[in-house]
Amino acid sequence: MPTPVILDVDTGVDDALALLVAARHPDLELLGVSCVAGNVSLDRVVENTLRVLAAAGRSDVPVAAGAQRPLIESPRAATVHGTDGLGGVELAPSPRQVESEHAVEFLRRTILASTEPVTLVALAPQTNLALLLRMHPEVIDHVDRLVFMGGSASVGNATAVAEFNVWHDPEAAAIVLDSGVPAYMYGLDVFNAVAVEEYHAARLAASDEPLARVVGALLGNRVSSSHGGEPEYSGLIGDAGAVCSLVDPDALGTRLLPVHVELAGRARGQTVVNLRGRPGEDLAHGLVVDRVPVEVALTVDAPRLAGVFLDSLGLPRS
Ligand code: BDR
Ligand code: CA
Repeated sequence: MPTPVILDVDTGVDDALALLVAARHPDLELLGVSCVAGNVSLDRVVENTLRVLAAAGRSDVPVAAGAQRPLIESPRAATVHGTDGLGGVELAPSPRQVESEHAVEFLRRTILASTEPVTLVALAPQTNLALLLRMHPEVIDHVDRLVFMGGSASVGNATAVAEFNVWHDPEAAAIVLDSGVPAYMYGLDVFNAVAVEEYHAARLAASDEPLARVVGALLGNRVSSSHGGEPEYSGLIGDAGAVCSLVDPDALGTRLLPVHVELAGRARGQTVVNLRGRPGEDLAHGLVVDRVPVEVALTVDAPRLAGVFLDSLGLPRS
């Protein structure tokens, strides 16, 4: 039986790739999509999401609009997805309209209506999910687990130590990780490894097949180099890797580890992952309390997961 999933997105080039996989993989039943401000404004996220689902031939999937801004701070769009969020890739408008109810109500209704516990896949700042879990904690028993793209056990991207989704709304991520929902972290440690080679993306972009063209164009989005100069090809499948982890979990190596979201100072938005094998002085002296552990993906067979991505979309691996 396919796994029932709901995606929470801020579409976004790589959210678009993730939506395409979730919409088309036979092992996944995409119950709906909730949108939140992040990579771009909420209106733009909703429009992009509707268009991507239409490109996937899945305009039947309901889409709901949620939070326009983080819980506390002002929204700060990402610079790496271009002003339209899709890196300039033009998609046809969708025949479908966004749902009339707020994403939080949509999530509550859809989760409770599912006959099987739902897997929540968070690919964006976790504002919608924090509001859901605070307003409607009754959903927790109906959620199988949360798989989230966010955080890092090593380097950051939005700041030296913080990953964008957690950095954009750290309070929301802290609420969600403390909610009691079993969590799986697909962070930058694996996110930054899974890519499609440039020659292959270019070949897809030049294909006669419409879906291949869209995927190739999205992968071809170039981002500014950290060293300045010309924008560089990365070919990362990004958020789509978190969705692929649902269908091929053995492609990743994980450990159950305490994760704390830092809320103050220069490290605000950092996910502090306790990788130590034994208690340190902080625990011995009662200075910190380790939270419920999170399953953290630390290693990935990157070619294997990239292969799952291409297979899911019916695209050649080379
Ligand atoms: C995350 O931030 C966004 O830019 C991407 O869509 C991804 O979800 C990576 O840090
Ligand atoms: Ca995203």
